[in-house]
Amino acid sequence: MIRKCLFPVAGYGTRFLPATKAQPKEMLPILTKPLIQYGVEEAAAAGMMDIAMVTGRNKRAIEDHFDIVYELEDQLRGTRREERLESIRGLINDCTYSYTRQVHMRGLGDAILTGATIIGHEPFGVILADDLCVGEPGIMSQMLKVYEKYQCSIVAVEEVPHEDVNKYGIVSGNAIDDRHTLVNTMVEKPEPENAPSNLAIIGRYILTPDIFDILRNTPPGANGEVQITDALQTQAAQGNVIAYRFSGHRFDCGSIDGFVAATNFFYEKLISDRS
Ligand code: G1P
Repeated sequence: MIRKCLFPVAGYGTRFLPATKAQPKEMLPILTKPLIQYGVEEAAAAGMMDIAMVTGRNKRAIEDHFDIVYELEDQLRGTRREERLESIRGLINDCTYSYTRQVHMRGLGDAILTGATIIGHEPFGVILADDLCVGEPGIMSQMLKVYEKYQCSIVAVEEVPHEDVNKYGIVSGNAIDDRHTLVNTMVEKPEPENAPSNLAIIGRYILTPDIFDILRNTPPGANGEVQITDALQTQAAQGNVIAYRFSGHRFDCGSIDGFVAATNFFYEKLISDRS
């Protein structure tokens, strides 16, 4: 059983400026729900009810989102509009929320290490809210099954066009079956000519807690930042990382194209649910 899920949400979201000038990118909505809520719903569906967020400056709206607004509750009580609060109320009741701040922007590895005090010494999930994933069951629930079997770190992967490998952490290794690969090589954002494959990590991880000590000893890599991919390479060298090709679909909501595709997907779903 894994109870905790970490959300690194300290990034600036410069690709969405000026929309992200005064609000966190994780609060941009796909229809009526902010991106971060989709991620927390996925964690909760996997039974990860302790939500740990690594935040930064300008991120207060996220904390407010996962809290009661009494005036609003009061105004909507007993009206038909009350049901619009249902999904977020459920998450507020069912989960606990802890926050810690990443003071310097030193990369995803550093953000995850900042969460060490909340996570403690147990395996945990990591969700990057920018990668909005849909699947049945949810991607984190699928990964939990993989963890239960292999008891090591798990990364969700999908094949990407070869020319795009420099946007991702790329893995290669020995296929166990169609969906599972025992990883031996992991490289953060390689140029296409140096990439070991086109199997890209998407923003879902289950990590064993030894990752924290490894991160403490991981020097800055690509972009001068501490990369989780580099820390995972240490585990992979010991045979302790499985790459899992998930069943479902990922929208890269850190890009305008992916954001619009996700919006269209959920809008179509809304229309078909209505009819
Ligand atoms: C991060 C990780 C990268 C991973 C990607 C998935 O990169 O460093 O390994 O493939 O998320 O979205 P970022 O998108 O933050 O540059």
